[in-house]
Amino acid sequence: MIALAGKGGTGKTSIAALTIRYLLEKRTGPVLAVDADSNACLNEALGITVHTTVGRLREESLDAVRSGANRPGGMSMEQLFDYQVQQSVIEAKGIDLLVMGRPEGPGCYCAANNIIRKYTDKLAETYPYVVIDNEAGMEHLSRRTTHTVDLLLIVSDPTVKGVQTAKRINELVNELQLGIGNKVLIINRTSGPDGAKLKKVAEDYGLSIGGLVPQDSTIFEYDLDGKPIFALPQNSTALNSLSAILDSLRIP
Ligand SMILES: Nc1ncnc2c1ncn2[C@@H]1O[C@H](COP(=O)(O)OP(=O)(O)OP(=O)(O)O)[C@@H](O)[C@H]1O
Ligand SMILES: [Mg+2]
Repeated sequence: MIALAGKGGTGKTSIAALTIRYLLEKRTGPVLAVDADSNACLNEALGITVHTTVGRLREESLDAVRSGANRPGGMSMEQLFDYQVQQSVIEAKGIDLLVMGRPEGPGCYCAANNIIRKYTDKLAETYPYVVIDNEAGMEHLSRRTTHTVDLLLIVSDPTVKGVQTAKRINELVNELQLGIGNKVLIINRTSGPDGAKLKKVAEDYGLSIGGLVPQDSTIFEYDLDGKPIFALPQNSTALNSLSAILDSLRIP
């Protein structure tokens, strides 16, 4: 189970998508991709169309209960919902995608969050690899108490402030004793000598460094053209740097 964390806009979703590609190319899949960000966009990075989200299903189930509609085959509310979540897993190209989505209306995010956590854990048992793209910030870490993440990729932008946020995330993870197997920092979008300097800053903070992913103009072009990052050309510097980092982490 690989999860992403980091400040907003640092590249979590991009790195999640490229990590999924790495696993599909270099390991034996399938991969369960979980978009646990309420402002879903992992699907775009992967080039997959989303037809439903866990948040929406929950609203629909609640509406059904409120309106007193008959449930098929006398299923309990829980059973019906279980079934619907299984149905909401989007299957494409060796990747199964589960999207949390945003609860419609005045719904509480916590509910959709709890549900996605429960189903991630449940579904995780049947997949060799699970990659969870999280929302920015640290809240999801304190909420996520049930499952064990084997590898946490903390993504920072190429700024000292970014590395400081990574340090806080690292400390929070230690404090919360989340049972995370390994956690490393990835400094994304570096250019020239900045990377080496920031790496030094991170080392001084006692962070374990996975490596640097350089600024990649192809990502920028793909973004502009609305092409999925998942489909970056094989010679992309970001893709190759991330692959080298993941190689060094020796993911079984
Ligand atoms: N190595 C890179 N080189 C160039 N552009 C990049 C690189 N990594 C990410 N980007 C660009 O940076 C922007 C933010 O990336 P991304 O959406 O992956 O960040 P995020 O951390 O998931 O953001 P959020 O916190 O909003 O979920 C995107 O436009 C993406 O194309
Ligand atoms: Mg994101």
